[in-house]
Amino acid sequence: MKALAILGSPRIKMNTDILLDKVIDGLEDRDVFVEKIELRKLNIHPCIACGACEKTGNCFMKDDMNLLYNKFDEADIVVFASPLYFNSVTSMSKIMIDRCQMFWSSKYVLNKSSINRAKKRNGLFICTGGSVQKENIFLGATLVMDLFFKAINTKYQYNLFADRTDKILVKERIELLDKAYEMGQKLVDFNWI
Ligand SMILES: Cc1cc2nc3c(=O)[nH]c(=O)nc-3n(C[C@H](O)[C@H](O)[C@H](O)COP(=O)(O)O)c2cc1C
Repeated sequence: MKALAILGSPRIKMNTDILLDKVIDGLEDRDVFVEKIELRKLNIHPCIACGACEKTGNCFMKDDMNLLYNKFDEADIVVFASPLYFNSVTSMSKIMIDRCQMFWSSKYVLNKSSINRAKKRNGLFICTGGSVQKENIFLGATLVMDLFFKAINTKYQYNLFADRTDKILVKERIELLDKAYEMGQKLVDFNWI
């Protein structure tokens, strides 16, 4: 099995990255081949709504997004990790997500999918937020992720949320780290239809 683990935080070795690494540990201990991608290192341009993908099913832009399109297709498991920024995912995450419009166009405009729709893929969203959990602080981000996972034909199976990170760092929360590891292990089980 192959997993794609994407970090949408600009900070490495901090809250979101630490949780992602724990999930990766869990996956690797179940013999999953994991490829970790740090969006901060990639050069991905924002979607300009040119409509080219509605004609070809592909994005005309030549940048690092081209590295990712096939990886989504090939992955059995997709883990996406972002901190909460203004109740949503980070801008670098959203830029990448918007560029998945070509999958949507290929399916719903052209009826000729650029991603294998028959393949089963399991998805996990990791999100960390600084504030003390008021109601629904992760709601905005989950709505974004819902459409992202649909675009890449991946079952949005689990969320892993960590609030209060501005008060208590993730690295000090052993239970949460254990939960992240277990979630990595659980992702391998495709117990859905
Ligand atoms: C630009 C910006 C916007 C943020 N917006 C929110 C927010 O809306 N809600 C929240 O709970 N935390 C917010 N935070 C705090 C981060 O989500 C939190 O510190 C997170 O754990 C950072 O992840 P990292 O340690 O992996 O970088 C924001 C932080 C920044 C820098």
